[in-house]
Amino acid sequence: MSAPLTSAPGVHDVRPDPVVGFDYEEQARGLLPPHVSAYYGAAAGSGGGSAEGTADWSAVRFRPRALQDLRTLDTSTTVLGTPVATPVLVAPMAQQLGAHPEGEAVMARAAAASGSLLGVSTNVAVPFSTVAAAGAPWWFQVYVMRDHGLTELLVRRAVDHGARALLLTVDMVALLPASVNPRQWPEGPAKSRLTNLTAAELAAAGPGAVDMDAGISLATIGWLREISGLPVLVKGVLRGDDAAACVDAGAAGVIVSTHGGRRLGPSVSAARALPEVVEAVGDAGEVYADSGIRSAEHVAAALALGARAVFVGRPALWALAADGETGVRAVLDGMTGELRQVMTQLGAASLDRITRDLVA
Ligand SMILES: Cc1cc2nc3c(=O)[nH]c(=O)nc-3n(C[C@H](O)[C@H](O)[C@H](O)COP(=O)(O)O)c2cc1C
Repeated sequence: MSAPLTSAPGVHDVRPDPVVGFDYEEQARGLLPPHVSAYYGAAAGSGGGSAEGTADWSAVRFRPRALQDLRTLDTSTTVLGTPVATPVLVAPMAQQLGAHPEGEAVMARAAAASGSLLGVSTNVAVPFSTVAAAGAPWWFQVYVMRDHGLTELLVRRAVDHGARALLLTVDMVALLPASVNPRQWPEGPAKSRLTNLTAAELAAAGPGAVDMDAGISLATIGWLREISGLPVLVKGVLRGDDAAACVDAGAAGVIVSTHGGRRLGPSVSAARALPEVVEAVGDAGEVYADSGIRSAEHVAAALALGARAVFVGRPALWALAADGETGVRAVLDGMTGELRQVMTQLGAASLDRITRDLVA
């Protein structure tokens, strides 16, 4: 497939639906085995939370500024001190060998080429060394396993390979029916997970050791900081009081996320939760957002509501499946290119000019 958006659009490029250029879902579904696309596309409960998440970003209305100097547009920023060329980051997602034989390695190469940053799941299926070799800055997503020794081993290994921060995921994902649970997939590479622990380490830990620990608490933030020496972002926060407690407990910030609608069907959307969280965190940390972001307008909405940057999940995963590195780059570069156009329309020459007053 040719890249949907290769050049920065000018004022005469009329694109009635900004989502179309980045949407590889249909193409990917045509290529993937049904059990893989069912897992990637799954959402909790009736499934409406995912679409609603997108609709709520689309519902944001802007108050564009007039008469701004827009000769130079700058989409670069820093995320926990790491410079990136775009505020569109790649969300951590499990089971990427299901999308592409090289999985996260390709995702990482695309992120590097686009000047983005990669979230790497606890359930990553390729070695950390391969991810790191791509050259993109990366953050390691942590599911605390029941066996804390095993969790620590994995975290230390990620640190040794250059992870620059930890994302502590605190939302319990809804139990998926067997038909969409990767544990039920046929044996093969796509089923691989936790491959940065050796078979011997996993065997020694015993049954149930890698199940998620349902007893994590605010103290987990300090523990992760201590064992890693890295900043910790808490992923899956939807309330101001939780966000404030996280930064008080030493988190560098939070990610406002519904896990792409996979946590709880009738959940508040990320777009609706974001302002409350931003207000509660204030200057004490950085706030990020994901879930349902599908266009540059959504990116601008999240930034205007106070997010420092956003993560995209499924758009990158479908693109990986449909067109490998080219596909993921088309999503990241396409959204960033379109963001420049949206910034022009908003009267914001740089990301720090995408401020709350732009939202009606
Ligand atoms: C197939 C799939 C696997 C995921 N795996 C993880 C994971 O291992 N850890 C995690 O914190 N989030 C995981 N997520 C959630 C993403 O990090 C992100 O929050 C979500 O996909 C964003 O929503 P979006 O897909 O609508 O962009 C996963 C999401 C999908 C779709």
